[in-house]
Amino acid sequence: MARSPIAIVPDVDKTTAEAQTSTSTRRAAQLTGHLAPAKETEEVNTGPALPPQYPVSRLRFDAHHHIDDVRPLRVAVVGAGLSGITAGILLPAKVPSITLTIFEKNGDVSGTWLENNYPGVRCDIPAHVYQSTFSPNTQWSEIFAEGSEIRDYWKSCAEKHDVYKYVKLRHRVDSASWDDEQSQWHLSVHNLNTKASSTERFDFVIFAIGRFNAWKLPDYPGIDDFKGHLRHTSNWDPLYDPSGKKVAVIGNGASGIQVVPNLQLISKHVTHFVRNPTWIATSWAGDERTFEPQPYLEEERQSFQDPATYLHFRKELEEKYWRRFRAMVRGSEENEGMRELFIEVMRKRASKKPELLEGLIPDFAPHCRRLTPGPGYLESLTEDNVELVKAPIKRFTARGIETTDSKQYHFDAIFCATGANTDLVPPFSVKARGVDLKEAWKPDGTYGFPYTYMGVATPGFPNLFFLAGPHATGPSGTVPYAVETALTYYAKVMRKVSSQGIKSIAPSKAAADDFVDYCDAFFPSTVLTDNCSSWNNGGVPGSRIHGLWPGSAAHQTFIRRDPRWEDWEYERFNPVNRFAYFGNGYTRGEVDEGTDLTPYLRAPGQELDLRDLHESWWDLPGASKKS
Ligand SMILES: Cc1cc2nc3c(=O)[nH]c(=O)nc-3n(C[C@H](O)[C@H](O)[C@H](O)COP(=O)(O)OP(=O)(O)OC[C@H]3O[C@@H](n4cnc5c(N)ncnc54)[C@H](O)[C@@H]3O)c2cc1C
Ligand SMILES: NC(=O)c1ccc[n+]([C@@H]2O[C@H](COP(=O)([O-])OP(=O)(O)OC[C@H]3O[C@@H](n4cnc5c(N)ncnc54)[C@H](OP(=O)(O)O)[C@@H]3O)[C@@H](O)[C@H]2O)c1
Repeated sequence: MARSPIAIVPDVDKTTAEAQTSTSTRRAAQLTGHLAPAKETEEVNTGPALPPQYPVSRLRFDAHHHIDDVRPLRVAVVGAGLSGITAGILLPAKVPSITLTIFEKNGDVSGTWLENNYPGVRCDIPAHVYQSTFSPNTQWSEIFAEGSEIRDYWKSCAEKHDVYKYVKLRHRVDSASWDDEQSQWHLSVHNLNTKASSTERFDFVIFAIGRFNAWKLPDYPGIDDFKGHLRHTSNWDPLYDPSGKKVAVIGNGASGIQVVPNLQLISKHVTHFVRNPTWIATSWAGDERTFEPQPYLEEERQSFQDPATYLHFRKELEEKYWRRFRAMVRGSEENEGMRELFIEVMRKRASKKPELLEGLIPDFAPHCRRLTPGPGYLESLTEDNVELVKAPIKRFTARGIETTDSKQYHFDAIFCATGANTDLVPPFSVKARGVDLKEAWKPDGTYGFPYTYMGVATPGFPNLFFLAGPHATGPSGTVPYAVETALTYYAKVMRKVSSQGIKSIAPSKAAADDFVDYCDAFFPSTVLTDNCSSWNNGGVPGSRIHGLWPGSAAHQTFIRRDPRWEDWEYERFNPVNRFAYFGNGYTRGEVDEGTDLTPYLRAPGQELDLRDLHESWWDLPGASKKS
């Protein structure tokens, strides 16, 4: 067996009291102080006597600690939409020491796709693209799948990858506060079944609470007086049948645009209240859209069962979503061309009643707001049972809505497609070191916007990450990919923390300030800063853009591939020496005869791509058993 190494002790500050005692006393104190197991102590301490002038360390190295020992981390994820589900798949695979809990206030996972079940809800990005990179469904029934099929896909991912075992359903997180002494987050959790609240402690917390989850009804006077059926589209009552009813839809965002043509088909009359113009796009990335479902042919689905055929198909489809970034760039040919194209498309679609478009063509550029490919929307507005109302709403009444031009409208049901609170301010208190993000990020708060370092974390809030929060995705690429790469970044941070004697980690203020400054320089080169209200600016035209990454999705991937450790501040368990975690000079793996110490060797002819050689974090000597 290998002998334990004699400690190599670094130089010591000669001015300390310790340094001024006699060398032999210091040497004895150092050696007897080592907490080595008996055998190792013997070997370390019975080595040849050192010359008296040999330098003495301030560090008592931990002879029990092997470099590959990791601190167990208790990690909480708040939310089990596609982000939380992906966290439940990737974090246990990538963070060896993790104990994971995912809190979800709903009765099941899937978030957006569980909650939104209004008529016509479906993705506007092809389903083959809007799915995980590593667990694809090759058998989507339609190009733009219905919400229920997307919900079932994410539920099946959770089942397949055994995520449910980490999920506490019907558990709502009501607040989070950081305990500096313990270096832990205290989450106040409300069990919606038992109505009991408890406090649970975690080393790390990841918020995956969604940016459209805090849906909101408008706050018009009299809203509580309305005697008919009142619902937000994200809170649709599947038991209410709008067939043959007089209904209203407020809002022309993506939800309103989807629900109106579907209600037009079954309701007696639809009154659509629209406050501002919006672009009706052809589609994202040029994929053809129709109002009618666009099912895959049976033979196409069969061909997708061949892995090579499927890979080729998906790569071609997905690539287009990575290439559309230039359309965001102010003055680019792609963006300029889009305005003309959309005007033409809108005119064509509303050709039955061209007057409809008066005041409906935006003065902001396409892509200032997220595009809304609205197949069937403008066509439905031209139907006889639909009225478009541009006059502002004054108030709700017992029977309906009154507009500022004193017109009264009567309805059986009012559906508010009025979106969510998209300022990205946490809807519950998140406190650390005297600051509460719930206040500090509000427009009148200390920061006034979601102040973050690269959208991943924020200064002063250690061991806290945001998933699909501020700056989470590039204006290109796909949401599931961005979530996966963010989680890979967080796993790297957690592995560092758990293996390098780190108590807590937070981005520095200087780094966050530079990131914000970069964003402020970058976003004006895009049309995102045009005069529109969007979830990129928290719904306030002219506000700082915080919804998207400052750059393309490929740009984001490059930057987040390796954490810039120099941008982080650390609190260590051993404040004396940052290398205390080096421990006894061994790996635990190497003292176990059953481990593979040469995993880097491969059969001749099976060598790796040399770019990958010695790059993997998990394939280290002694890290796995001999095969
Ligand atoms: C109707 C609709 C259609 C959309 N279509 C598309 C599309 O076609 N393409 C696209 O790219 N994006 C689309 N989006 C955006 C979509 O929200 C994201 O793509 C993605 O689903 C976000 O997933 P998430 O897990 O981050 O958030 P969510 O799906 O919102 O999940 C958040 C979860 O957190 C839970 N939660 C929140 N607060 C708490 C709390 N305090 N305690 C416990 N749990 C909590 C919620 O219950 C929810 O389950 C759409 C959004 C909506 C509303
Ligand atoms: N797959 C899809 O097709 C799909 C479907 C739904 C949602 N989504 C996603 O979800 C996001 C949110 O979409 P959303 O439609 O729910 O919300 P949204 O895009 O924020 O749209 C909300 C709409 O409600 C209007 N509104 C808000 N408050 C109002 C008030 N008090 N009075 C009158 N009108 C009011 C807004 O008008 P103003 O413009 O004047 O503010 C806007 O038209 C989208 O951007 C998209 O990312 C995608």
